[in-house]
Amino acid sequence: MKRSTVNPTCPVPVPTVPALRPGRRVITRSMSILMAVLALVAGAPAQADGGRLMPRTVPEVYTQECASCHLAYPPGLLPAASWQRLMGGLDRHYGSDASLDAATRAQIDSWLRAHAGTYKRVSEPPPQDRITRSAWFARKHRKVDPGVWKLPSVKSAAHCAACHGGAERGVFDDDELKMPEGLDARLRRPWND
Ligand code: HEC
Ligand code: HEC
Repeated sequence: MKRSTVNPTCPVPVPTVPALRPGRRVITRSMSILMAVLALVAGAPAQADGGRLMPRTVPEVYTQECASCHLAYPPGLLPAASWQRLMGGLDRHYGSDASLDAATRAQIDSWLRAHAGTYKRVSEPPPQDRITRSAWFARKHRKVDPGVWKLPSVKSAAHCAACHGGAERGVFDDDELKMPEGLDARLRRPWND
Protein backbone atom coordinates (compact mmCIF):
# COMPACT_ATOMS: atom_id res chain seq x y z
CA MET A 1 0.00 0.00 0.00
CA LYS A 2 1.39 3.35 -0.96
CA ARG A 3 1.71 5.75 1.91
CA SER A 4 0.88 8.69 -0.30
CA THR A 5 -2.70 7.50 -0.61
CA VAL A 6 -3.27 8.16 3.07
CA ASN A 7 -1.40 11.44 3.21
CA PRO A 8 -3.86 13.80 4.91
CA THR A 9 -2.36 16.77 3.06
CA CYS A 10 -3.49 15.36 -0.25
CA PRO A 11 -6.47 17.50 -1.32
CA VAL A 12 -8.74 14.77 -2.59
CA PRO A 13 -7.22 11.40 -1.92
CA VAL A 14 -8.51 8.54 -3.93
CA PRO A 15 -8.38 5.42 -1.80
CA THR A 16 -6.94 2.55 -3.70
CA VAL A 17 -8.61 -0.77 -3.12
CA PRO A 18 -5.85 -3.08 -1.98
CA ALA A 19 -5.50 -6.24 -3.99
CA LEU A 20 -7.12 -9.11 -2.18
CA ARG A 21 -4.62 -11.79 -1.34
CA PRO A 22 -5.50 -15.07 0.32
CA GLY A 23 -4.56 -15.10 3.99
CA ARG A 24 -4.37 -11.33 4.18
CA ARG A 25 -8.02 -10.74 4.04
CA VAL A 26 -8.55 -9.47 7.59
CA ILE A 27 -5.77 -6.95 7.31
CA THR A 28 -6.96 -5.95 3.89
CA ARG A 29 -10.49 -5.42 5.06
CA SER A 30 -9.58 -3.38 8.12
CA MET A 31 -7.14 -1.39 6.00
CA SER A 32 -9.94 -0.60 3.56
CA ILE A 33 -12.04 0.70 6.41
CA LEU A 34 -9.14 2.74 7.68
CA MET A 35 -8.57 4.11 4.19
CA ALA A 36 -12.21 5.03 3.87
CA VAL A 37 -12.11 6.86 7.20
CA LEU A 38 -8.90 8.64 6.24
CA ALA A 39 -10.41 9.57 2.90
CA LEU A 40 -13.38 11.08 4.72
CA VAL A 41 -11.16 13.04 7.07
CA ALA A 42 -8.77 14.13 4.36
CA GLY A 43 -11.67 14.81 2.01
CA ALA A 44 -13.04 17.37 4.46
CA PRO A 45 -11.23 20.28 2.78
CA ALA A 46 -13.52 19.97 -0.19
CA GLN A 47 -16.31 20.44 2.31
CA ALA A 48 -14.69 23.56 3.76
CA ASP A 49 -14.12 21.95 7.13
CA GLY A 50 -10.47 22.87 7.29
CA GLY A 51 -7.46 20.80 6.29
CA ARG A 52 -5.38 21.94 3.37
CA LEU A 53 -7.51 23.58 0.73
CA MET A 54 -4.82 24.78 -1.66
CA PRO A 55 -4.05 22.48 -4.61
CA ARG A 56 -0.53 21.14 -4.44
CA THR A 57 0.68 23.04 -7.44
CA VAL A 58 -0.19 26.68 -7.65
CA PRO A 59 0.83 28.54 -10.80
CA GLU A 60 3.28 31.33 -10.05
CA VAL A 61 1.11 33.86 -11.87
CA TYR A 62 -1.73 33.20 -9.45
CA THR A 63 0.38 34.14 -6.45
CA GLN A 64 1.93 37.05 -8.34
CA GLU A 65 -1.30 38.56 -9.59
CA CYS A 66 -3.88 37.54 -7.02
CA ALA A 67 -2.01 37.76 -3.73
CA SER A 68 -0.78 41.34 -3.88
CA CYS A 69 -3.90 42.91 -2.37
CA HIS A 70 -5.16 39.96 -0.33
CA LEU A 71 -4.65 36.25 0.24
CA ALA A 72 -4.38 33.92 -2.75
CA TYR A 73 -7.74 32.31 -2.02
CA PRO A 74 -7.96 28.55 -2.53
CA PRO A 75 -9.96 27.90 -5.72
CA GLY A 76 -12.08 25.25 -4.00
CA LEU A 77 -13.83 27.94 -1.95
CA LEU A 78 -15.91 29.17 -4.90
CA PRO A 79 -17.76 27.38 -7.68
CA ALA A 80 -16.50 27.64 -11.27
CA ALA A 81 -19.32 30.02 -12.23
CA SER A 82 -18.16 32.52 -9.59
CA TRP A 83 -14.52 32.37 -10.72
CA GLN A 84 -15.56 32.81 -14.31
CA ARG A 85 -17.63 35.91 -13.51
CA LEU A 86 -14.94 37.31 -11.25
CA MET A 87 -12.21 36.78 -13.84
CA GLY A 88 -14.42 38.38 -16.48
CA GLY A 89 -14.76 41.60 -14.48
CA LEU A 90 -11.30 42.31 -13.08
CA ASP A 91 -11.49 45.96 -14.11
CA ARG A 92 -14.33 46.38 -11.58
CA HIS A 93 -13.08 44.05 -8.88
CA TYR A 94 -14.81 44.88 -5.59
CA GLY A 95 -14.03 48.55 -6.07
CA SER A 96 -10.49 47.91 -7.35
CA ASP A 97 -8.96 47.57 -10.77
CA ALA A 98 -7.26 44.17 -10.92
CA SER A 99 -7.03 44.00 -14.74
CA LEU A 100 -4.59 41.60 -16.38
CA ASP A 101 -3.42 41.02 -19.94
CA ALA A 102 -5.57 38.51 -21.81
CA ALA A 103 -3.06 35.63 -21.69
CA THR A 104 -2.42 35.88 -17.95
CA ARG A 105 -6.11 36.25 -17.28
CA ALA A 106 -6.91 33.14 -19.34
CA GLN A 107 -4.21 31.11 -17.59
CA ILE A 108 -5.45 32.00 -14.09
CA ASP A 109 -9.08 31.62 -15.12
CA SER A 110 -8.63 28.09 -16.40
CA TRP A 111 -6.62 27.01 -13.34
CA LEU A 112 -9.22 28.45 -10.95
CA ARG A 113 -12.05 26.79 -12.78
CA ALA A 114 -10.26 23.45 -12.99
CA HIS A 115 -9.85 23.49 -9.19
CA ALA A 116 -13.14 25.19 -8.32
CA GLY A 117 -15.34 23.85 -5.54
CA THR A 118 -17.70 21.12 -6.57
CA TYR A 119 -18.88 19.87 -3.21
CA LYS A 120 -22.53 20.80 -2.75
CA ARG A 121 -21.93 23.46 -0.11
CA VAL A 122 -19.73 25.30 -2.57
CA SER A 123 -21.68 24.57 -5.73
CA GLU A 124 -24.04 27.58 -5.61
CA PRO A 125 -22.46 30.95 -6.45
CA PRO A 126 -22.67 33.08 -3.29
CA PRO A 127 -23.88 36.71 -3.39
CA GLN A 128 -21.29 38.93 -5.14
CA ASP A 129 -19.24 35.79 -5.74
CA ARG A 130 -17.77 36.33 -2.31
CA ILE A 131 -16.39 33.44 -0.27
CA THR A 132 -17.33 35.50 2.76
CA ARG A 133 -21.01 35.61 1.71
CA SER A 134 -21.30 31.83 1.35
CA ALA A 135 -23.75 30.07 3.64
CA TRP A 136 -21.00 27.73 4.90
CA PHE A 137 -18.82 30.74 5.74
CA ALA A 138 -21.58 32.30 7.84
CA ARG A 139 -22.21 28.99 9.57
CA LYS A 140 -18.55 28.35 10.38
CA HIS A 141 -18.21 31.86 11.81
CA ARG A 142 -21.58 32.19 13.50
CA LYS A 143 -19.97 32.37 16.95
CA VAL A 144 -17.61 35.17 15.94
CA ASP A 145 -19.00 38.45 17.28
CA PRO A 146 -19.86 40.82 14.38
CA GLY A 147 -17.70 43.52 15.97
CA VAL A 148 -14.60 41.33 15.53
CA TRP A 149 -14.66 41.75 11.72
CA LYS A 150 -14.34 45.50 12.21
CA LEU A 151 -11.23 45.43 14.42
CA PRO A 152 -8.40 47.48 12.87
CA SER A 153 -6.31 44.27 12.82
CA VAL A 154 -9.00 42.49 10.77
CA LYS A 155 -10.99 45.13 8.81
CA SER A 156 -12.73 42.57 6.62
CA ALA A 157 -13.89 38.98 6.79
CA ALA A 158 -11.97 38.53 3.52
CA HIS A 159 -8.73 39.02 5.47
CA CYS A 160 -8.58 35.35 6.47
CA ALA A 161 -4.95 35.57 7.60
CA ALA A 162 -5.89 37.88 10.48
CA CYS A 163 -7.27 34.82 12.29
CA HIS A 164 -6.06 31.78 10.34
CA GLY A 165 -2.33 31.26 10.82
CA GLY A 166 -2.26 28.73 7.98
CA ALA A 167 -4.29 30.79 5.48
CA GLU A 168 -1.34 31.33 3.12
CA ARG A 169 -1.03 27.57 2.83
CA GLY A 170 -4.77 27.13 2.47
CA VAL A 171 -5.17 25.72 5.99
CA PHE A 172 -8.20 26.96 7.89
CA ASP A 173 -8.80 24.34 10.54
CA ASP A 174 -9.28 25.11 14.21
CA ASP A 175 -5.73 24.11 15.22
CA GLU A 176 -4.15 27.02 13.40
CA LEU A 177 -6.47 29.75 14.61
CA LYS A 178 -4.86 32.88 15.94
CA MET A 179 -6.47 35.71 17.83
CA PRO A 180 -6.39 38.99 15.96
CA GLU A 181 -4.71 41.85 17.77
CA GLY A 182 -7.03 43.76 20.09
CA LEU A 183 -9.53 40.91 20.51
CA ASP A 184 -11.48 41.55 23.68
CA ALA A 185 -11.26 38.75 26.29
CA ARG A 186 -15.08 38.43 26.25
CA LEU A 187 -15.05 37.58 22.56
CA ARG A 188 -12.42 34.82 22.63
CA ARG A 189 -14.80 31.91 23.03
CA PRO A 190 -14.81 30.72 19.39
CA TRP A 191 -10.99 30.65 19.43
CA ASN A 192 -10.82 28.55 22.57
CA ASP A 193 -13.58 25.96 22.10
C1 HEC B 1 -5.61 45.74 -6.81
C2 HEC B 1 -5.93 44.88 -5.68
C3 HEC B 1 -6.50 43.51 -5.99
C4 HEC B 1 -5.98 42.54 -6.82
C5 HEC B 1 -4.73 42.60 -7.69
C6 HEC B 1 -6.88 41.39 -6.70
N1 HEC B 1 -7.88 41.66 -5.81
FE1 HEC B 1 -9.32 40.37 -5.23
N2 HEC B 1 -10.11 41.80 -4.03
C7 HEC B 1 -9.61 43.08 -3.87
C8 HEC B 1 -10.44 43.82 -2.92
C9 HEC B 1 -10.24 45.25 -2.48
C10 HEC B 1 -11.45 42.91 -2.51
C11 HEC B 1 -12.54 43.16 -1.49
C12 HEC B 1 -11.97 42.79 -0.14
C13 HEC B 1 -12.88 43.06 1.02
O1 HEC B 1 -14.09 43.17 0.85
O2 HEC B 1 -12.35 43.13 2.14
C14 HEC B 1 -11.20 41.66 -3.22
C15 HEC B 1 -11.97 40.52 -3.06
C16 HEC B 1 -11.75 39.32 -3.70
C17 HEC B 1 -12.56 38.15 -3.52
C18 HEC B 1 -13.76 38.02 -2.60
C19 HEC B 1 -13.34 37.88 -1.15
C20 HEC B 1 -14.55 37.65 -0.25
O3 HEC B 1 -15.08 38.63 0.30
O4 HEC B 1 -14.95 36.49 -0.12
C21 HEC B 1 -12.04 37.18 -4.32
C22 HEC B 1 -12.54 35.75 -4.46
C23 HEC B 1 -10.92 37.77 -5.02
N3 HEC B 1 -10.76 39.06 -4.60
C24 HEC B 1 -10.14 37.10 -5.95
C25 HEC B 1 -9.09 37.70 -6.65
C26 HEC B 1 -8.38 37.05 -7.73
C27 HEC B 1 -8.66 35.67 -8.27
C28 HEC B 1 -7.41 37.93 -8.15
C29 HEC B 1 -6.40 37.75 -9.24
C30 HEC B 1 -6.94 37.63 -10.58
C31 HEC B 1 -7.55 39.13 -7.33
N4 HEC B 1 -8.58 38.95 -6.46
C32 HEC B 1 -6.72 40.23 -7.43
C33 HEC B 1 -8.49 43.60 -4.48
C34 HEC B 1 -7.69 42.94 -5.38
C1 HEC C 1 -11.94 37.53 12.64
C2 HEC C 1 -11.25 36.26 12.52
C3 HEC C 1 -11.51 35.39 11.32
C4 HEC C 1 -11.39 35.69 9.98
C5 HEC C 1 -10.99 37.03 9.38
C6 HEC C 1 -11.71 34.50 9.25
N1 HEC C 1 -11.99 33.47 10.12
FE1 HEC C 1 -12.40 31.55 9.63
N2 HEC C 1 -12.66 31.10 11.61
C7 HEC C 1 -12.46 31.97 12.66
C8 HEC C 1 -12.77 31.29 13.90
C9 HEC C 1 -12.65 31.89 15.31
C10 HEC C 1 -13.17 29.98 13.57
C11 HEC C 1 -13.63 28.86 14.51
C12 HEC C 1 -15.04 29.15 14.83
C13 HEC C 1 -15.67 28.15 15.75
O1 HEC C 1 -15.11 27.08 15.94
O2 HEC C 1 -16.76 28.48 16.26
C14 HEC C 1 -13.09 29.90 12.10
C15 HEC C 1 -13.41 28.76 11.36
C16 HEC C 1 -13.22 28.64 9.99
C17 HEC C 1 -13.42 27.42 9.25
C18 HEC C 1 -13.87 26.09 9.82
C19 HEC C 1 -12.66 25.36 10.36
C20 HEC C 1 -13.00 23.99 10.91
O3 HEC C 1 -12.06 23.28 11.28
O4 HEC C 1 -14.19 23.66 10.99
C21 HEC C 1 -13.11 27.68 7.94
C22 HEC C 1 -13.12 26.70 6.78
C23 HEC C 1 -12.73 29.07 7.86
N3 HEC C 1 -12.82 29.62 9.12
C24 HEC C 1 -12.35 29.70 6.71
C25 HEC C 1 -12.08 31.08 6.62
C26 HEC C 1 -11.77 31.76 5.38
C27 HEC C 1 -11.64 31.09 4.02
C28 HEC C 1 -11.60 33.08 5.69
C29 HEC C 1 -11.32 34.23 4.77
C30 HEC C 1 -12.10 34.31 3.53
C31 HEC C 1 -11.80 33.22 7.15
N4 HEC C 1 -12.11 31.98 7.66
C32 HEC C 1 -11.71 34.39 7.86
C33 HEC C 1 -12.04 33.28 12.57
C34 HEC C 1 -11.86 33.98 11.40
